[in-house]
Amino acid sequence: MKMLNVALPKGRLGEKVYAMFEKAGYECPSIKENNRKLIFENKEKGVRYFWVKPSDVAIYVERGAADIGVAGKDILLEYKPDVYEILDLNIGKCSMAVAAKKGFTDDRNRTLRVATKFANIAKDYYVSQGRDIDIIHLNGSIEIAPILGLSDVIVDIVETGTTLKENDLEVVEKFVPISARLIANKANFKFKSEMIEDVKAKLLEQTENL
Ligand code: PRP
Repeated sequence: MKMLNVALPKGRLGEKVYAMFEKAGYECPSIKENNRKLIFENKEKGVRYFWVKPSDVAIYVERGAADIGVAGKDILLEYKPDVYEILDLNIGKCSMAVAAKKGFTDDRNRTLRVATKFANIAKDYYVSQGRDIDIIHLNGSIEIAPILGLSDVIVDIVETGTTLKENDLEVVEKFVPISARLIANKANFKFKSEMIEDVKAKLLEQTENL
């Protein structure tokens, strides 16, 4: 029997995603055991799950190490992996936004300094605005950059807005809605289309009932 290899994003979103797969009939009880294993399989159901860093899911899927996976739209927009995006799961919803210190006004005569983890998304956005920028690529705690004067603004994910608020920043503009997407490897999709279509249909039912 063909096994379906599924890359799940480690963390809170991944737990939710696994619960959806379980409900879809692709359960794998061993995944709930409290250990540090990263790969779990249920041979009867023909499914194998592995936990990977959320930003790595698309790499596993693009290269075919995973047949399908779940990645945030932010990652897909930033890295543009060559994969099929087959379903919006309607969970993990947030926005990509520009934020700055309260009261910030943009002086268009100066190059805008933008701190972000998402350099490509930020570049695309500011090209569309016809605005010259200087990207400062950071890996986390982006909110600190404008406070310390490292940047004028940040481009980052906003969910509840709490992180911005607690750091005296505010949203300037939310410009892309983000949510979790089911993605598939292009070649493996043909080879395992029946299983993947079944997973997709069963997950779709659940997103409609959210
Ligand atoms: C994201 C983002 C913000 C925070 C926003 O970080 O970078 O810091 O969430 O959420 P809020 O609007 O609900 O406060 P995430 O937790 O994904 O991790 P990381 O930036 O540390 O990688």
